[in-house]
Amino acid sequence: MTGAVKTPRTAPRLAGVVGAPIGHSLSPLIHTIWAAREGVNGYYVPVEIADDDEIFRQSIASLQTVGFAGVNVTLPHKERALKLATTASARAKRACAANMLTFSPEGVHADNSDIEGFRAALAEYAAPDEKRDLALILGAGGASRGVAIAIEEAGYKKIIVANRTKARADDLAGLINGAAAGDWEDRNDLAAGADLVVNTTSLGMTGKGVLDFDIAAMAPGAIVADIVYTPLKTPLLVAAKESGRRAVGGLSMLMHQAAPGYRAWLGNEAVVDEDLQNHLLRALARKDQA
Ligand code: ATR
Repeated sequence: MTGAVKTPRTAPRLAGVVGAPIGHSLSPLIHTIWAAREGVNGYYVPVEIADDDEIFRQSIASLQTVGFAGVNVTLPHKERALKLATTASARAKRACAANMLTFSPEGVHADNSDIEGFRAALAEYAAPDEKRDLALILGAGGASRGVAIAIEEAGYKKIIVANRTKARADDLAGLINGAAAGDWEDRNDLAAGADLVVNTTSLGMTGKGVLDFDIAAMAPGAIVADIVYTPLKTPLLVAAKESGRRAVGGLSMLMHQAAPGYRAWLGNEAVVDEDLQNHLLRALARKDQA
């Protein structure tokens, strides 16, 4: 027999998310709901892959061989996913990380929809003529880079990065136009007059430390965003709402980052709406009880 074996056309479309751990991922639910809405014969499965370059390479090759159209990539694989890819989008290269790998006979294409996810989440709340003078990013870890690029692309004139480990804040600020690093201890003062603050640290997440941050000095009409979604209403978001500021939760970014993968691999629509959010809220509530 010669040549590659073709997957029969009647076979269901396959896609998934790879990471370690992966059991907590809400992505399978998001894609399954979108597929059901359109009557797509497709499956989106969570696949746990050990934190090892060679195991990752072999696993991705196997998924491609058995007919997966592509996979989302989450911790701890986002950087090695970019390295493994044959081609990569400008955004993935810039973020030095990929959360999408799309398979084709030509190879593996890497992309980054975390940037688009945060852009779209922000766009839901921000007016087109929003004042965008100052944005403060708390944290400079894995999740911060996509957020920082999205903030730069949204047109904020000045961006300050404050992180416990200053060197990481310096690194991130160096990649972003108009950005500067600030001291973590000064975070409340750095927020003075800010139009946007985003928490990209793990603080505020269930089981992690408390984010000690006072939004009082921010602009009165500011937007406060948190990438944490467990709990859904982090103390930071609650404080934002109570002060009359706009609060953007992590679930919004999660839903929006999923859309490009769904459209690339399973279907066409991928609408982010209240119904989808309610499904996710119920799933989170069930996880809480488990
Ligand atoms: P991930 O890969 O999940 O983003 P990470 O890269 O370690 O994890 O980033 C977590 C972020 O939360 C970092 O900005 C981290 O600050 P450091 O770079 O100093 O580690 C921040 N973070 C975690 N725990 C923190 C704490 N107790 N106080 C302040 N910042 C904290």
